[in-house]
Amino acid sequence: MTASVPELQGLSADIAEVLITEEQIHQRVRELGQTISRDYASRNPLLIGVLKGVVFFMADLLRAITIPVEIDFIAVSSYSPETRKRGVVRLVKDLEISIADRHVIFVEDVIDTGLTLNYILRNLQARQPASLEVCVLFDKPVCRLIEIPLKYKGFELPDRFVVGYGLDHREKYRNLPFVGLLKPEAI
Ligand code: IMP
Ligand code: MG
Repeated sequence: MTASVPELQGLSADIAEVLITEEQIHQRVRELGQTISRDYASRNPLLIGVLKGVVFFMADLLRAITIPVEIDFIAVSSYSPETRKRGVVRLVKDLEISIADRHVIFVEDVIDTGLTLNYILRNLQARQPASLEVCVLFDKPVCRLIEIPLKYKGFELPDRFVVGYGLDHREKYRNLPFVGLLKPEAI
């Protein structure tokens, strides 16, 4: 256990290594917010995220944006592990705001194979937004099965399963303020 792991009873004890600290995340999210504020000045962008992992990043990114901005969420469910591998997902909660003619930024916590994201982007594109870009906090480029243009990117991660800052393992660890690797015995 490294000294930099904050004491979160019963949670940080399962972390083998911190990959990205809370300070690094906040610094990078601030930079992304500034860049988006500059790029989207007077375009009133709509940020869209997929529940639940992205809510931490979304909340911090939103507060780092200094121009008028709106948010909305969708929720998806995979039919089965097999169909998820093919990127087939079912929309279980749709958007509440119409995206036609809006400048949309799709905000994602982590991109792995890219299959889920590809499916969602095709769905959103069909609703004819004025523009559609992707902002992802954690990218695992080695895992990618399908190429997706990422306009805004926080960090690159190795091909390892990570938890924290919204990312879970069986719904646990989302509330860790940093991103880290689990000890093998916690998996
Ligand atoms: P993919 O890009 O379609 O493979 O799926 C990405 C999704 O898998 C993300 O939205 C996360 O929910 C999940 N995911 C991928 N890598 C990790 C990880 O390291 N920790 C936790 N969840 C992950
Ligand atoms: Mg996700």
